Amino acid sequence: MATSAKTTASKAAPAKKPAAQAAVRSNGNGNSKATTGKGAGSNPAVDIQPILNQQQNAPAPTQKFGTVAQRLPIGLDEPTRRKSVEMLNQLLADTITLRDMYKKHHWQVVGPTFYQLHLLYDKHYEEQAELVDLIAERIQILGGVAVAMAHDVAEFSSIPRVPRDREEAPIQVSRLLEAHQIMLKNSHDFAKKADEAGDDGTNDLVVSNVMRTNEMQVWFVAEHVVDSPLTQAE
Ligand SMILES: [Fe+2]
Repeated sequence: MATSAKTTASKAAPAKKPAAQAAVRSNGNGNSKATTGKGAGSNPAVDIQPILNQQQNAPAPTQKFGTVAQRLPIGLDEPTRRKSVEMLNQLLADTITLRDMYKKHHWQVVGPTFYQLHLLYDKHYEEQAELVDLIAERIQILGGVAVAMAHDVAEFSSIPRVPRDREEAPIQVSRLLEAHQIMLKNSHDFAKKADEAGDDGTNDLVVSNVMRTNEMQVWFVAEHVVDSPLTQAE
């Protein structure tokens, strides 16, 4: 039975293809490449090659920053999603800035509270990094394009530029508290607007994640700049 099936299959198989009939695909630069064929001999794995220089002819066209696509059926109209994406990109740029400010201060902190602040700053860095991912992915779900690179973040961020110098711990803390305050004021504003527009997912993200995390971090950081004697009660 098996032998018979094999024989039939062999008979039904088409005649050997001439090499010229192998599928050919243009890479957009006037060059053509065979996508099947025997160029690499009998091992098909070797035929898998990256197709380079695809900036112009990528299968999915480039989506311009600031636009929203209606690809995902999430029950929100385009104006609502566009507005939410704009607000979230502001929060994203500020969160990336705050995240990086925490790492800068983690490296550069000095003084009697070095160990505490060194660890606390890194913990807050990790938490801000989680927020960055949540906000960016919400932007993509809404059909937008998330701001990502340092030069764009610097352009969009509403947090004042942080100097390159190593600063004293109380100045670090003041800077962080100011940045948190900016984030939180924006969060209150954006949460209200998202709620009014009916974008509950964005409202929830801003309140439950961004706002709660930033408020908690403000508490832990602010208590370090209370003027309290280290060894003697007043
Ligand atoms: Fe570290």
